[in-house]
Amino acid sequence: MEINPDEIASILRERIEGLDTDSADLSEVGTVLEIGDGIARIHGVDNCMSLEMLELPHDVVGLALNLEEDNVGAVLFGDWDKVSEDDTVKRTGKLLEIPVGEELLGRLVDPLGRPLDDKGDINTTETRSAEHKAPGVVHRQPVVEPMQTGLKAIDSMIPIGRGQRELIIGDRQTGKTAIAIDTIINNRDSDLVCIYVAIGQRMSTVVQVMETLEENGAMDNTIIVAAPADEAAPIKYMAPYAGCAMGEHFLYQGKHALCIYDDLSKHAAAYRQMSLLLRRPPGREAYPGDVFYLHSRLLERAVKLSDEEGGGSLTALPVIETQAGDISAYIPTNVISITDGQIFLESDLFYSGVRPAINVGTSVSRVGGNAQTKAMKKVASQLRLDLSQYRELEAFAQFGSELDPETQKQLARGERMVEALNQKERQPMPVAEQVTSIFAGTAGYLDRIKTERVTEFLGDLISRLHSENKDLLDRINESGDLSDEDEQALAKSIEQMVDDFGPDFDEEGNPLEEGESDRVTRREEGEEPESSSGETESGDGDSGKAGDADESEADAEAEQEEAGATA
Ligand SMILES: Nc1ncnc2c1ncn2[C@@H]1O[C@H](COP(=O)(O)OP(=O)(O)OP(=O)(O)O)[C@@H](O)[C@H]1O
Ligand SMILES: [Mg+2]
Repeated sequence: MEINPDEIASILRERIEGLDTDSADLSEVGTVLEIGDGIARIHGVDNCMSLEMLELPHDVVGLALNLEEDNVGAVLFGDWDKVSEDDTVKRTGKLLEIPVGEELLGRLVDPLGRPLDDKGDINTTETRSAEHKAPGVVHRQPVVEPMQTGLKAIDSMIPIGRGQRELIIGDRQTGKTAIAIDTIINNRDSDLVCIYVAIGQRMSTVVQVMETLEENGAMDNTIIVAAPADEAAPIKYMAPYAGCAMGEHFLYQGKHALCIYDDLSKHAAAYRQMSLLLRRPPGREAYPGDVFYLHSRLLERAVKLSDEEGGGSLTALPVIETQAGDISAYIPTNVISITDGQIFLESDLFYSGVRPAINVGTSVSRVGGNAQTKAMKKVASQLRLDLSQYRELEAFAQFGSELDPETQKQLARGERMVEALNQKERQPMPVAEQVTSIFAGTAGYLDRIKTERVTEFLGDLISRLHSENKDLLDRINESGDLSDEDEQALAKSIEQMVDDFGPDFDEEGNPLEEGESDRVTRREEGEEPESSSGETESGDGDSGKAGDADESEADAEAEQEEAGATA
């Protein structure tokens, strides 16, 4: 065939003129300019949105964070080290989406919803945007329902409502995680879905948390989102937003969810690392300028929706770790100012045996009061004040000066209240039991019992109520209220129990001598008739458990008591 150059030229001209440039949008595709440390600089994706997902080779996903004049800075998820310069990048036009749904319940997943446990695939059908605009004020209503933690010290003095944001703050190893886990366990049979987001913790710790929850039957309505310490910073950065999106799935169905972010200090550190690699200018403590926005946009998503919006709630319990109790550092002050109150845990209190180690003076719940159960309100209204006064007096009494009887009485009451509020971990209590313990203290019944025996007394009291007066406990638990008749019935049971248990002091607060208390009679009938002849009764009620230290303490007390009796 003969080739005519003119013909070819005219064909080419036709083709070029007819080219439809609109159908091929070159601004949607770019190339990698530079890559390293899980960060890519991309040229060419002109219309890219902030926080948009980008498609890279080898199934790597990018998240556009820096939109600059001639390039886009993105963090990468997945095997980013396989990506090299000049690789093609495609826009997806979508913001980051997280798989959500009931299928995730009972599972341990990474922030992108992929399973980290060995329970098989998760077949979710729905997704939600990781970042979601928090509902405005017209879509909200005040916090009114209680979110019970099952911890006496919290539910009585720092009540948390559904939809509230309450910060748990304290040094390392002060029991922050324990509070969160106890709250999940306490809600195992309620309608609250719990999402525990572990950021920057060791994977073994996270697995341990999961095992604890499983042992306590609390994993069925719980999702654990883990971004362990060895993960890349972008994954840690994503984790709380992913957890929040999973919670919002339930929230917008009119259900109730609780998100625990453990902890946001490590989250901020991951964000700082990312920002520095993206060459954003460092500010105070080298955090980027928008680190406040990082946490505020997350915590603003906690909400109690209005009834028109379904009335669902999302409660947030962020955790912050402080250094040497310094709550005025940058991240702690930020998060304190974003939340509706804080539970402040102190190492000193922890080591002195207060569990949970809550500093009542600096802890507060600014909106939960309306959400407290009526029964608890009735018995605990004075508690905060009494305890704060006790702490002040205690510091004062250390100087060893002579104290007037009134002060001594306040000190004695305070000591017993602290003891009554102590609670072992993994043992959350229903409302009725909490109310009983606190009522026994605030109404003065514990004043007749020695501080060391308070825990034992309360244990006995509650088990007796369970066997003899279960209706009363059930009534309080169901109604959340304490009617006057019930209060009287409770008072009567406690009084009876004090007599049967064997009080150490009479009604005026004078120590009882041997033989005057039922307990002594009981003991004489019992196992150790010989052990305490010639001694006063003090300290021997629990002699089985008492070590040498206790004995010498008991002796000292006996002397004191004698002195008191002669005076
Ligand atoms: N109420 C409690 N009763 C007894 N032990 C407790 C109680 N609360 C916490 N603990 C113990 O104290 C230790 C620290 O608790 P936890 O891990 O909850 O602290 P944390 O502040 O989360 O620590 P980290 O800073 O390492 O995350 C644990 O060994 C835990 O068993
Ligand atoms: Mg912890």
